Amino acid sequence: MVEYKVADESLAPQGKEALYIAENKMPVTSNIIRERFKKEKPLEGITIAGCLHVTKETGILARTLKAGGAEVYLCGSNPLSTQDEVAAALVEEGINVFAWHGNTTEEFYWCIRQCLDAKPNILIDDGADMIVTAHQEYSDLITSGTIIGCQEETTTGVKRFRAMEVKGKLKVPLFPVNDARCKNQFDNELGTGQGVISAIYGMHILFAGKNTVIAGYGHCSSGMALRARGLGANVTVTEVDPIKALKAKFAGYNVKPIKETLPEADVILTATGCKHVIPPKHEIFDKIKDGCILGNLGHFDIEIPTKELYEYAQEIKPIRKDVEELTFPTGKKVYLLGQGRLANLVLSEGHPSEVMDMSFGLQSLMSEFIVKNKDNFKAEIIEVPEDIDNRVGELKLKAMGIEIDELTEEQYNYIHGFEEGT
Ligand SMILES: NC(=O)c1ccc[n+]([C@@H]2O[C@H](COP(=O)([O-])OP(=O)(O)OC[C@H]3O[C@@H](n4cnc5c(N)ncnc54)[C@H](O)[C@@H]3O)[C@@H](O)[C@H]2O)c1
Repeated sequence: MVEYKVADESLAPQGKEALYIAENKMPVTSNIIRERFKKEKPLEGITIAGCLHVTKETGILARTLKAGGAEVYLCGSNPLSTQDEVAAALVEEGINVFAWHGNTTEEFYWCIRQCLDAKPNILIDDGADMIVTAHQEYSDLITSGTIIGCQEETTTGVKRFRAMEVKGKLKVPLFPVNDARCKNQFDNELGTGQGVISAIYGMHILFAGKNTVIAGYGHCSSGMALRARGLGANVTVTEVDPIKALKAKFAGYNVKPIKETLPEADVILTATGCKHVIPPKHEIFDKIKDGCILGNLGHFDIEIPTKELYEYAQEIKPIRKDVEELTFPTGKKVYLLGQGRLANLVLSEGHPSEVMDMSFGLQSLMSEFIVKNKDNFKAEIIEVPEDIDNRVGELKLKAMGIEIDELTEEQYNYIHGFEEGT
């Protein structure tokens, strides 16, 4: 029997429509891999728990894992990113879903625990909350060998696990799927990059001519800077890494410390994985330009100091869906997108299906890889095998009808040798 708690089961027909759209744009996950999984059933007898943004794209992953024979449990990886109609549709299809838009912190962890209570063998996380909870509260699942492997979808989660490994606290084999080339060079750069338009969804602004500050120049933020510039914005990048800062400068952006950008910025968008990118001090808040739009696309809601901004504001007024006007004691107003949470998911639908096809193609093949090789892993971080990363790339090209060159033996030997020179 399907286990679930979702917002409204009657939304299932809209969810089916959303899933239909994603199916057609995700040929690697929804067709090539799924068809093989249906025949070979590589995940038979395996329970997989995903703590992921419950969007239509995640629905496609769930369908593929189920087609491979897995029992699938899903909960949301952010309180505001669940698409309630998709959650309802997945329940109708036999996916166990514990997720609804707008859940509280307590409810968020309750949903995670419902998935862990199902004694999953593979955990697919986005931000590390489920796997950390498994370490803290479900250690029997780890010591008994029930959990055979874990996968992490995002940069912030991978950083948390690398920190756990250094401190000797990581007790499961952990695959940082985020770090595979087919993931962060597309999902982060193109998906989050295109997420700058969440500021348009929020306030319907014209980017052209706007002083737009992008905090960070990493995978996500370099994509965001590029898209903002493409829309005509005057882009300034802030960084803490000297090499990334130089890359931004030579790509033609202004580069400045965040404090210097505040008096001029019409829009500030963050995606750093760091906290308090705008320092949480009243005198700093007072420097922010009147009318500035503040949005975060990094994993947690602390890049923009949301809590401190709420505390400082004399008035907090929701002015449209997922946008609040905060009035400071000085009378200045700022516009906060999505309560400081992943604006591209809260105000819009998250990453387009086309890029999630590669991320979730990887998650599907990695689930199969974990099952096949489960006896060979230790409790450590294990990089995604290069051949799986390349295979997803090849499948995506194939699905797009694109052919590329192949190295001849002579070329292969040349680039792997040292004998030939001037
Ligand atoms: N919104 C989404 O859908 C989505 C998708 C993927 C990743 N993410 C999240 O976005 C964040 C960034 O991911 P990424 O893959 O781009 O990471 P990354 O490591 O490639 O880039 C982060 C960049 O931010 C810089 N940085 C760190 N602290 C800073 C600070 N205080 N001020 C300015 N710059 C700073 C770093 O030097 C680095 O260049 C993470 O939290 C990740 O989990 C969100």
